[in-house]
Order: sequence, then C-alpha cells, then structure tokens
Amino acid sequence: MKKSGMMLLLALAMTTVAACGSGGSTGGNAPSTGEKPATTTETKSNEAAADKKIVLGFSQVGAESGWRTANTDSIKSAASEAGLELKFSDAQQKQENQIKAIRSFIQQKVDVIAFSPVVESGWDTVLKEAKDAGIPVVLTDRSVDSQDDSLYETFIGSDFVEEGRKAGEWLVEKMKDETNVNIVELQGTTGSAPAIDRKTGFEEIISKDSKFKVVASQTGDFTRAKGKEVMQAFLKAQKDIDVLYAHNDDMALGAIQAIEEAGLKPGEDIIIISIDGIKDAFVAMTEGKINLVVECNPQFGPQLMDIIKDVVAGKEVPKRIAVEEGVFPMETAAEALPKRTY
Ligand code: AHR
Repeated sequence: MKKSGMMLLLALAMTTVAACGSGGSTGGNAPSTGEKPATTTETKSNEAAADKKIVLGFSQVGAESGWRTANTDSIKSAASEAGLELKFSDAQQKQENQIKAIRSFIQQKVDVIAFSPVVESGWDTVLKEAKDAGIPVVLTDRSVDSQDDSLYETFIGSDFVEEGRKAGEWLVEKMKDETNVNIVELQGTTGSAPAIDRKTGFEEIISKDSKFKVVASQTGDFTRAKGKEVMQAFLKAQKDIDVLYAHNDDMALGAIQAIEEAGLKPGEDIIIISIDGIKDAFVAMTEGKINLVVECNPQFGPQLMDIIKDVVAGKEVPKRIAVEEGVFPMETAAEALPKRTY
C-alpha cells in the first residue's frame, strides 16, 4: 500500500512536471493523461530515461566453491542478458570487504544493491546507510539476522534448514538397522546462514534418535583445502567414524582425498552426505564415493534480474523468494550427471 501510494504520487508528480513543460522528468513510464501531447524535448527526455540502464551493485561472497563460481556466472550472464550495468565486487569471504563494497556502491549512487552476506550478523548500520540514500537492497543466497526487515526489499535463496532436514531424513532411513551411528560434521563458514541452518535442520531430524551422535564438528570454511585438512584431523582423533556430513560438496571432495589417503573407502567405510550438487560431486557419486547430495541451486541469476527490475520500478515484491531444489542419492547420479549445468 505504501509503495503503490508512492508510485501514484510519483506518477502524478511526473505528469505535473510534463504538463508544466519543464522537460525534466527522469521516468519514462508515467501514465498519459490524454490532456496534452508530449513536446519533442519531452519525448527525447522520456526515451533517454527508458534507455537508461539500471545500475546494479553486486557484492559476492568470494570464489570459495564450485557453487559460488556457478552463482557468479549466473548473475553476470543474467545481468548482461537483461541489459543491466553490473558493478561486481568479490569480498574474498570477508565481511569488511562487503561493507566497503556496499559503501562504495552508495557513493556511486547505483540504482540497486544486491549481495550475498558472508555472515548473518552485523549488517544493520550499512543497510541503514543504503536506506537513507534511497537505494533498495536485495539479499541473495544468504540472509541476515536483522530484526528490521525494512532494511531490505526481499531475500531470494535456498531454504538451508530444509536442506539439513533432507540430509538428516535420508540418513535416518539409510541407518535404520544400525544401533550406533558416529557422525563427523564439516561445517561451512562460521556464522554464515548456510552453516547455521544446515546444522540446525540436520540436528532437528537426527536428535529424535539417540543412536545418532555427532562426535566431531568443525568448520572447513566451504573450501576443498580446509575440508581435507579438517577431515585429516577427524581421522586422527576419532577411531570410529560411520558418517561424514559436509555442508557443501567442495569440503566433501577435500575430505574424500583425506579418507583415501588414510586407506579407507569413501562411500563404503564412511557414508558421505553433502550439499550443493556441483558436477564434481555427481562424478564422485558415480564412482561410489558420495552417497547423497542435497541440491542447492545457484542459478537464480535470471530470477534475480526480474526482481531487480520490479524493485527499481517500485513494484511490490514478496519478502522471501525460495529456490526449488532436489535430492540425489548415489543410485540416481549416472542418469542425472549429463543434465547437470553447474
Ligand atoms: O551460501 C551457499 C553456500 O555457499 C554453498 O552451499 C557453498 O558451496 C557456498 O560456498
């Protein structure tokens, strides 16, 4: 209601400016009153406004995983196809870099800011700065824990808690005949929404049966190198590991190297569950090394561009836009692999 009221006022103001013959309108979509045909100057001005590209400032988390690379590709190609001018910034997994990038977008007076927050907390100040500058913000992939949801227009991304639940549900079924199940967990980046939520969703399911025990849980920062390093430490410290639950494919793939180097068979000696669904994980499934992949879809670039156009046009958008995703047990990998696009 607030927005549609503002749109109406804006449309009226623009119509008034045109009727006064100032030629200073910045919008090309004001409804015609039918009272007076536009002058040549006004028509040119309106055409220029319509031709003006939307400038999008996008702050990406980094390039920590195959998922992230696919997400960046999707955003860049969708922005170019949609005719937006994209100012892209890579935060190298550091919140301070994202805050700097957002402040720079504000200074450059971009039309809209989108970003995937590295961690959940600590965004209110910079989000208020964007709001005060009149620049709308769209959250992508990861959300923030701010109490004030007027600081952003919408959040488009996966339901990470649900992904954790799907992993847990599959494991409960797989291990139904076992009496004791020791699990090690490779968490994503500490404080990030996917690390917090995937842990929560998984624990919600497995905590219903005390035979499931998470015997070690540590961050691998969503990277292959750290996934391998932490798995090596788990293997040294834990005598009996039945299951590895990795918050993403890259950490699982790093851990597989550690498991093989320790003389064990991934997928057999240790059941492996991971999240994302990158091609490399599907290849590992066809080789019998990962047992389950819960999909997390990074290719929402085109959907994001539609949302951005709506936001810039002042249209009402849903506060939460979820991305559809599936579950792939090892047995389905060979058939699914050729169709994987990331
Ligand atoms: O926020 C999505 C997560 O971030 C992906 O699951 C992970 O691979 C990435 O680094």
